[in-house]
Amino acid sequence: MTQSAPPAGIILAAGKGTRMKSELPKVLHRICGLPLAEWVGRAMIEAGVKKPVMVIGHGGELLQEALGDKYEYVWQRDQLGTGHAALQAAELMAGCSGPVMIAPGDTPLISGEVLKALLERHHTSASGCTVATSHLAEPKGYGRIVRDGTGGIGRIVEQKDATERELQINEVNSGIYIFDGTLLFEILPTLGNENTQGEYYITDALEKVSKGGGKVEGMPFDDFSLLLGVNDRWQLAQAEKIMRQRILMRHAMNGITLQDPDTTYIEADVKIGQDSTIEANTHLRGSTAIGQGCKVGPNTLMVDCQVGNETKITMSHLFQAKIGSKVKVGPFANIRPGAVLADNCKIGNFVEIKNAQLGEAVAASHLTYIGDAEIGAGSNIGAGTITCNYDGHEKFRTKIGAKTFVGSNSTLVAPLTIGDDAFIAAGSVITEDVPDTALALGRARQEVKEGWVLRWRGRKK
Ligand code: UD1
Ligand code: CA
Repeated sequence: MTQSAPPAGIILAAGKGTRMKSELPKVLHRICGLPLAEWVGRAMIEAGVKKPVMVIGHGGELLQEALGDKYEYVWQRDQLGTGHAALQAAELMAGCSGPVMIAPGDTPLISGEVLKALLERHHTSASGCTVATSHLAEPKGYGRIVRDGTGGIGRIVEQKDATERELQINEVNSGIYIFDGTLLFEILPTLGNENTQGEYYITDALEKVSKGGGKVEGMPFDDFSLLLGVNDRWQLAQAEKIMRQRILMRHAMNGITLQDPDTTYIEADVKIGQDSTIEANTHLRGSTAIGQGCKVGPNTLMVDCQVGNETKITMSHLFQAKIGSKVKVGPFANIRPGAVLADNCKIGNFVEIKNAQLGEAVAASHLTYIGDAEIGAGSNIGAGTITCNYDGHEKFRTKIGAKTFVGSNSTLVAPLTIGDDAFIAAGSVITEDVPDTALALGRARQEVKEGWVLRWRGRKK
């Protein structure tokens, strides 16, 4: 026996998922930011599978594009059943004599830990096949485990093929198996399709192992949520909820304070440093990485953002932005792709920043649009300042030096360069470059007419 050979893995992901009522193939529906099949793939990789084999069919190109080259792909052109799906991997896996894990692509809550435990059990019981099972109060829809007299498994019967008596069995098949590789690829081509659905069932392979004198071991799991299959959108929502809880718990255990887990949504790959606090109704998505001692929320959405340490972000939207340490953002800031904020910046209410690099300690505290710009360290951008970056056809850049003061309600018409330590008078429309240390005024000169009001009233009488 090649018990010590590394495990191989097959993920069955060719089905359409009719019950999802969707244009998107089922296994590309996401929970906590990742496609269902990706969760299964990651669990297998964690359990020691080098490169799991995805069996693809419906929307196969979409799957390959979304899941990338961590996986080998084999096609199942016609969906003739789970056994037929696994058979498609036979050629690619020829000579694979170690243990082979098989899992459906729609069981995202399976973990590397569970697969490792199953593998361990497979070895210690010296079985031809080991299957993860669970006892359910409502077993409807799942294949039922028919045990033989000796505690092993004789066969699995599908809901649609079961007799009244078999339907009373509440131990169900998770669809997650470990087979002896040699045995598996001997059996797969011999499966028949004489059943209600006319499909080649992987479950029939277990009966063949047992009839051939091999042992079929069932390993029951108390926590069925680990094995939950997603067949419709309600199960998708349930899986999302369970996975969300797992992710939140992981962060809490890593030293993150979660003010209100019930309204906190953190996707799979988000990273958060110790002693950061995430407040209520906050959504952290994609590749977002937050440093230590930060405070984020309440009511904040961040997608693919990098944040340093001790930064405070309140009631704001941030997309693909890079934020330094000790920065303050919000409330009500809109930080868009390409925004880079160096340490100690202060971005206040109703400020929008897009594709702009702000040096250290730049302040834009209120009501401002900064787009396609570069601003040197220590500059202050007054309330109501607008970089006019777009003429209806092209985008132009605004460059502002360090320690420059831009007075309130300034209109900066790009392309424009303003030097260091310059001063823009409030209410200016600036269309020409301003050198270092200069004052620029671009507004009508104020007139004061003494006694005018009295004369005006006199006329009105
Ligand atoms: C299957 C099991 C059932 C088990 C349940 C657990 C069989 C016959 N039944 O039923 O015993 O309780 O999983 O969740 O295996 N697939 C293909 N090609 C096909 C058919 C299916 O790749 O031709 C894939 C699907 O994309 C899916 C997976 O196999 O990811 C399982 O198929 P599904 O139709 O969901 O099987 P269940 O009815 O849930
Ligand atoms: Ca299923």
